[in-house]
Amino acid sequence: MRISVIGCGYLGAVHAAAMASIGHEVIGVDVDEEKIARLGRGEAPFHEPGFEALLREQLAGGRLRFATGIEQVRDAEVHFVTVGTPQVAGGWAADVVHVDAAVAALAAIARPGSVVVGKSTVPVGTAARLAEALEGAGSALVWNPEFLREGFAVRDTLEPDRLVYGVRPGAAGVEPTLEGRPEVAAIDAVYAPMIARGTPRIVTDWATAELVKVSANAFLATKISFINAMAEIAEATGADVTTLADAIGLDARIGRRFLNAGVGFGGGCLPKDIRAFAARAEELGLGDSLAFLREVDAINLRRRDRVVELVLDALGERRSDDRVAVLGLAFKPDSDDIRDSPALDIAVRLHGLGVDVVATDPAALDNARGRYPRLGYVATAAEAVRGAAVVVLLTEWADYRGLDPVTLRATAGDSPTIVDGRNVLDPATWRAAGWAYRGMGRG
Ligand code: UDX
Repeated sequence: MRISVIGCGYLGAVHAAAMASIGHEVIGVDVDEEKIARLGRGEAPFHEPGFEALLREQLAGGRLRFATGIEQVRDAEVHFVTVGTPQVAGGWAADVVHVDAAVAALAAIARPGSVVVGKSTVPVGTAARLAEALEGAGSALVWNPEFLREGFAVRDTLEPDRLVYGVRPGAAGVEPTLEGRPEVAAIDAVYAPMIARGTPRIVTDWATAELVKVSANAFLATKISFINAMAEIAEATGADVTTLADAIGLDARIGRRFLNAGVGFGGGCLPKDIRAFAARAEELGLGDSLAFLREVDAINLRRRDRVVELVLDALGERRSDDRVAVLGLAFKPDSDDIRDSPALDIAVRLHGLGVDVVATDPAALDNARGRYPRLGYVATAAEAVRGAAVVVLLTEWADYRGLDPVTLRATAGDSPTIVDGRNVLDPATWRAAGWAYRGMGRG
């Protein structure tokens, strides 16, 4: 099929390349000329395992191209809207200005019978409002949320756990069933290989589809904050939150995933999505229903305070003299994304308190340096640790999990402390190598 993808950020760029790889003719559009130029040259504008290879392969195959002008997508049969919905300045709500602009532009040029598919994460009720803008154009609107995780974006796009299509709610007995809509057949044709593999597919109304996305993220954020709240209790009682998570996670109803206590969640999705969801509930007069999300956010942010406290405690009198090595700046491993990153936030706060911070990350250094040029940066963990009194592990890159405490002890400062902000190191091994070990909720 002829497909357009409007917005070539994380979601859109990966979606465009993935759709080309399953046989569609794809044009990706963005207003950012530099980004489009890079994508067109086969350069990934962000770190994502497997993406650049896929991009190059699809550009070479001739089915994928990128452009800056929206008029170039006129002939597409299906238009995906994948623009960002950031948190508004000075508030909790999502800013849908880019979604509105993309749909208005499509309304002016889309051919009758084409389908507009929203993938951006939006406040519930947005699709119904956008459909009005599309009315005169003769295009149907489908809401098809995306659940991709950074670091696994290619795999999550090509092998999703489920497909959710939200379509215009029908008037019972008058219109065809939701399943019988022509726009559903069009999206089925786009995702034909996934459907042939038996990927679960749910066809529902717009509001449900919009809510599936934000409620999934709210649930994941709540699960992480739950275990981090248990970490707070564990810290006060001498209990071990990792063992606790293992034990409760064995209950199949609970499950062990997303129960890793540490410095909490960050990134371009979970923090802003729970805030936007709570803000939307308030607009609907249902603030109480999602008031717990404010607690989820507060617990998450308190974990950052805790790490700062642990580091200052370890430095004691040596606060202004001794070096602190920060391992990890990205919001999670296998990503160079520093949006709302707990790691970068902690590094910057320590620096602001007068601590001599030397930070490193395998992929996010350039992004961090661009944002906070005054922080000290080095290329490797070995350089960061040299002479450091305190080492803080904040992003659990495989390289950092595998660090050898004996080798590092030889170059670190006197009686060093390791603060394991992700609970991924073995306390006994580090202690045996001469480190004071401090974890998150580990006794
Ligand atoms: C998330 C959702 O998983 C994805 O489905 C959605 O589409 C976008 O948002 P992503 O932001 O890539 O994806 O990251 P995710 O893997 O969910 O991790 C989010 C944050 O939670 C990271 O900062 C991670 O370090 C943290 N986390 C995750 C924990 O602190 N503990 C855990 O147990 C799991």
